[in-house]
Amino acid sequence: MSAPLLKVENLDLFYGDAQALAGVSLEIAQGEIVAIVGANGAGKSSLIRSIHGIEKPARGHVRLDGSDITGWPSYRVCEAGVGHVAEGRQVFPNLSVLENLEMGATPKRARALEKQTLERVFAMFPRLAERRRQAAGTLSGGEQQM
Ligand SMILES: Nc1ncnc2c1ncn2[C@@H]1O[C@H](COP(=O)(O)OP(=O)(O)O)[C@@H](O)[C@H]1O
Ligand SMILES: [Mg+2]
Repeated sequence: MSAPLLKVENLDLFYGDAQALAGVSLEIAQGEIVAIVGANGAGKSSLIRSIHGIEKPARGHVRLDGSDITGWPSYRVCEAGVGHVAEGRQVFPNLSVLENLEMGATPKRARALEKQTLERVFAMFPRLAERRRQAAGTLSGGEQQM
């Protein structure tokens, strides 16, 4: 088995006095799909937000391809190639589908690849290509999640 691409080691996260994560560890290899399953309030979102630098864990490490990215600000985690598709859609409702996708290409790393990435997204989600001029807020829930 190859070395893990993403490695989470012993994460502890607190909101004030309340502990949301206690010693969470996981490893994800390149090409692997890992699902985090748990009841409401179990800490799934807190874990994802900690990986992405939105929350600052009190203890533990997040390693990406060998680099320790623990505590990095979100924009740097994003530049390093970690995406985060939030639940609850969060599109810019008054911008078109195309404009929303273009917003995703603002990081420096993404700018040079904008044209080919857009083609890849439209091939994956032909529905978005059909509706590229439509205001994103008028798409169905499932289409907004795309
Ligand atoms: N910003 C916050 N401030 C205080 N407590 C929070 C905050 N976000 C989440 N929590 C608490 O942390 C725990 C884990 O929440 P969360 O990570 O959202 O769980 P899940 O995504 O698995 O439903 C819950 O007890 C929740 O109430
Ligand atoms: Mg959640």
